[in-house]
Amino acid sequence: MDLHTFKDAMARVTGPVAIVTAYEDGVPHGTTVSSLASLSLEPAMVSVALDNASAMLAIVRRTGHFGVNILAVDQHECASRFAGPRDKRFFGSHWELSSGVPRLPGTSAWLHCTVAAEAAGGDHTLLLGQVADCWTGVNVPLAYNLRTLGSLTPVP
Ligand SMILES: Cc1cc2nc3c(=O)[nH]c(=O)nc-3n(C[C@H](O)[C@H](O)[C@H](O)COP(=O)(O)O)c2cc1C
Repeated sequence: MDLHTFKDAMARVTGPVAIVTAYEDGVPHGTTVSSLASLSLEPAMVSVALDNASAMLAIVRRTGHFGVNILAVDQHECASRFAGPRDKRFFGSHWELSSGVPRLPGTSAWLHCTVAAEAAGGDHTLLLGQVADCWTGVNVPLAYNLRTLGSLTPVP
């Protein structure tokens, strides 16, 4: 098995771009993810894979819940900002607390999840979140494909 080919294969799996958020001791935390996936309808559940070294994983394990800010196309700058230096991630964002976790304005959709379970997955951990609250807007969602941010072009 060739790791580079595996990475190239996975780069062809189009994913969403979301900011997972948590709040602890009065401090907002946010991390960019593309591993968000729908998991179950009854109950409504999603999964997110977080690197075992991720600060967000440790925080969510302690707080037991997290927000999922599903980014809109015009929020592509957020994707790199929330993967960069932690002290600059919320800079310029007019975020608010919603159900106790940071929520960003202008997203395509929003979820508030409680941690139902987690599963080990190699160097990542799969967080299984039960959806406690959700919202959708009119903004077109941002997509991640071939290591590029963009949006899907409908087939004519
Ligand atoms: C488009 C994009 C998608 C990403 N997806 C994930 C992901 O699904 N899981 C993950 O652990 N890191 C992902 N990352 C990397 C994290 O955002 C990055 O490592 C971040 O610094 C982790 O922050 P933390 O340690 O504060 O949690 C992604 C980064 C980008 C730019």
